[in-house]
Amino acid sequence: MSKSTINWGIMGCGSIAREFADALKAVPGAKLIAAASKSGKSRQFAEEFNLPYYYDNYEDFVKNESIDVVYVATTHNFHYENVMLCLNNGKHVLCEKPFALNAKQALKLIETAKAKRLFIMEAMWTRFSPALSRLMDVIKEGLIGEIKVLKGQFCIDVPFDPKHRLYNLDLAGGALLDLGIYPITFACMVLEKYPVHITGSMNIGKTGVDEESHYLLKFDKGETALLSSACTFSAPVDFTLYGTKGHIIVPNFYFPSKLIIKLNDGDEQHIDVPYESNGKNYEAMEVMECLRQNKTESDKQTFYDTIKIMEIMDCLRGKDLKYPGESVF
Ligand SMILES: NC(=O)c1ccc[n+]([C@@H]2O[C@H](COP(=O)([O-])OP(=O)(O)OC[C@H]3O[C@@H](n4cnc5c(N)ncnc54)[C@H](OP(=O)(O)O)[C@@H]3O)[C@@H](O)[C@H]2O)c1
Repeated sequence: MSKSTINWGIMGCGSIAREFADALKAVPGAKLIAAASKSGKSRQFAEEFNLPYYYDNYEDFVKNESIDVVYVATTHNFHYENVMLCLNNGKHVLCEKPFALNAKQALKLIETAKAKRLFIMEAMWTRFSPALSRLMDVIKEGLIGEIKVLKGQFCIDVPFDPKHRLYNLDLAGGALLDLGIYPITFACMVLEKYPVHITGSMNIGKTGVDEESHYLLKFDKGETALLSSACTFSAPVDFTLYGTKGHIIVPNFYFPSKLIIKLNDGDEQHIDVPYESNGKNYEAMEVMECLRQNKTESDKQTFYDTIKIMEIMDCLRGKDLKYPGESVF
């Protein structure tokens, strides 16, 4: 794509859509021109962000020829059909995490994008955080030695409401897909590989979703990740990497801005890595960089990464948790 300005459209005008729209203001060359909401929120959204186009349905929205790339910001249960609609109408796509409900859906979307030579990427914003790059440098410098154990959790206390997307089975709610995806992805990102053995346990609540879930991932050299997610209680959203020479704490790891390094010899370092805007700007920049280079896949968030993470989550759910509408083909 040789255009200097890239036109974005947003599908679904909920809470993350608003954050992303804010972030786009900080991205050079990005122009948000359209929004679509089936529940009637697009007009207000368009007024708030000064957009020339707004739609009350997705079918008309994707026919707008001025839109280059669509950010799919609906709840997970809709990602498959929404992304497919975008691809079938020639739009490049950035889709919120989790990319789909399962690996089979994810693969089908990727195959469709490939066949149509369109760009597609999962919006796992943590991958693009400046602090992650710094953390990878620290690990590679060997400061904490060989990594042995990783511990992380994303547990937040969301008051019970059966209609809330986290508790609603129809919206593919639950802790794993919404929150657990972060520590699982983080463990695989820092080790730069995927587990060879996966086990876990889930506490299924009265609406049928996993309200609390715990994961144990074992990697090829014995590295072990002990991870949790929950929507019924809160805990510090921290991730700790334990190595043979010390450990690194990453506070607020799902979008970090600080690393705390504690070595076994008593040395302690704090590294601040601030981010610009609200952080969603980095994933948008990656999409635009890829589009400008006519790439259909990001090197930082690859198709392989998306599929592997979906496969891990499929495995963790096993037969205990199925979502309505999961078998779409
Ligand atoms: N990257 C991050 O940090 C981050 C943070 C939060 C969420 N997320 C992800 O972003 C996605 C959206 O999350 P959100 O918090 O923005 O969700 P949300 O505000 O609850 O809903 C987003 C949109 O989904 C559609 N929707 C929601 N509930 C629906 C229902 N009951 N029936 C029909 N449509 C419904 C609506 O689209 P319309 O406007 O068209 O009606 C709504 O505006 C999720 O996949 C989530 O995992 C990512």
